[in-house]
Amino acid sequence: MSGSIVLFGPPGAGKGTQAGRIVDLTGKPQVSTGDMLRTAVKAGTKMGAEAKVYMDAGLLVPDSVIIGLIEERLTQSDAVNGVLFDGFPRTIPQAESLANIAVVESVISIEVPDDAIVERIVGRRMDPETGDIYHITFNPAPSEVESRLIQRKDDTEDTVRARLEAYHTQTAPLAAWYSERGLLISIDGNQPINQVGDAVEDAVRTTMSV
Ligand code: AP5
Repeated sequence: MSGSIVLFGPPGAGKGTQAGRIVDLTGKPQVSTGDMLRTAVKAGTKMGAEAKVYMDAGLLVPDSVIIGLIEERLTQSDAVNGVLFDGFPRTIPQAESLANIAVVESVISIEVPDDAIVERIVGRRMDPETGDIYHITFNPAPSEVESRLIQRKDDTEDTVRARLEAYHTQTAPLAAWYSERGLLISIDGNQPINQVGDAVEDAVRTTMSV
């Protein structure tokens, strides 16, 4: 089982929330371009400073930057048996570049309507120590970690609307691109977290023979 999995869907669909279950099931490392970019922003690198302008505006970071990050990440030894891509690819040029450097075996699309997305994103809280993802209503954090939770800078209502616009114009067409290649499996993401997780696990078991 040496291929990679793509976790696909709009911002706030639950990709990060469900990634852990796939990592546990397959042993493949999670490769989140959003997390990689936030690490670069925090480290104050030149690339991070450039990416931050796009991220704060809810726009996609240019393909050349993202493809460079992924090419470098895939040279690491833990990627040899495939990885779980979270939030990548997000444009057709990114998917074409990926097809040249890795084998994608399964694309799991978590589908959530726009009206549910805004509430999910505005209520999201992150634990900076563990990376755990919570929601003030749908997945409250335990009281002992509450005081250290942070809100992502791009998790505002205005920025979410820009991110959704970028998703519909630049990313959503990828669903048809992967469907034409027989790789897309769609999950109803508009149900409780555990039920989405069960459906995601079923999709992985069906398509990856784990
Ligand atoms: P990125 O970090 O990838 O953000 P995103 O795709 O917008 O996705 P999110 O992390 O917001 O959502 P998610 O699907 O992981 O949802 P989560 O599980 O947290 O990208 C950020 C930015 O970086 C982009 O805007 C862009 O600028 C740049 N970027 C990144 N990758 C790029 C690329 N490849 N190309 C170009 N630019 C790129 O869940 C959200 C909330 O909902 C949480 O609070 C959670 O608790 C809750 N929740 C989850 N599931 C459920 C459920 N079933 N029911 C109720 N609540 C739920």
